[in-house]
Amino acid sequence: MSDPILQAEHISRRFGDFLAVDDVSLNVQRGHIHALIGPNGAGKTTCFNLLTKFLAPTSGRILFNGQDITADSPVQVARRGVIRSFQISAVFPGMTVLENVRLGLQRGLGVSFHFWRSQSLLSQLDARAMELLAEVDLQDMAHELTANLPYGRKRALEIATTLGMEPELMLLDEPTQGMGHEDVGRVTALIKKVSRGRTILMVEHNMNVISAIADRITVLQQGKVLAEGDYAAVSSNPEVMQAYMGSADVALQGAHA
Ligand SMILES: Nc1ncnc2c1ncn2[C@@H]1O[C@H](COP(=O)(O)OP(=O)(O)OP(=O)(O)O)[C@@H](O)[C@H]1O
Ligand SMILES: [Mg+2]
Repeated sequence: MSDPILQAEHISRRFGDFLAVDDVSLNVQRGHIHALIGPNGAGKTTCFNLLTKFLAPTSGRILFNGQDITADSPVQVARRGVIRSFQISAVFPGMTVLENVRLGLQRGLGVSFHFWRSQSLLSQLDARAMELLAEVDLQDMAHELTANLPYGRKRALEIATTLGMEPELMLLDEPTQGMGHEDVGRVTALIKKVSRGRTILMVEHNMNVISAIADRITVLQQGKVLAEGDYAAVSSNPEVMQAYMGSADVALQGAHA
């Protein structure tokens, strides 16, 4: 049964003479982990910027839960529950882990400037922040200074902050980038865990991550959709293999190992 949460219809984005995203149509099914892959410069991040309205599409239409959001502002899109991680959720190294999540919640409530007036609101926020930390297994580090967290755990914290904004659709741009093997495994498991009851659209270069958790994959190349399907279909597609000749070719093979 088809139940799309997000539909992009023929979206394009031009920068001067250059078409960074060229007539891309995309259907993200509710409940899926949908991966957007493709070589460097393929237009993946630009697509994210279009879908979250950080950039306006030159042409095309975007629907969220069947409603046309093409003319929405980024704030309106976020209010609908389309939340991109690592954009709003900058974490502050000088604050504790708990304070970071609480600050995210305060922002969501629009109370950042007068929160100190209400002790009861503060303790409510603390309780919710602790729940979110538990979701990403950071509860034991709640009072740790964020600067002291290992890299992979900072990503977990960013995900907790994003969850605080109650995303229906969460967009993650290269969540495992720059991570060592152990952290990659941990964050992959975390994404799978937090996907329950939500939908995730993620850009990811690591094919092991994709093969482990992606329900559906769209491959972009030079701004266009090259292929779409599950991992088995996409990874055996000759055009995809061709596009990945070179660096990521190894990753495609590696995922079978
Ligand atoms: N603001 C901009 N102005 C001009 N060109 C841009 C702009 N943003 C992106 N581009 C170009 O659009 C193309 C797609 O970039 P984009 O960042 O979307 O690729 P990507 O698939 O996310 O790549 P990567 O895997 O390296 O993150 C690139 O050639 C890039 O140089
Ligand atoms: Mg990118």
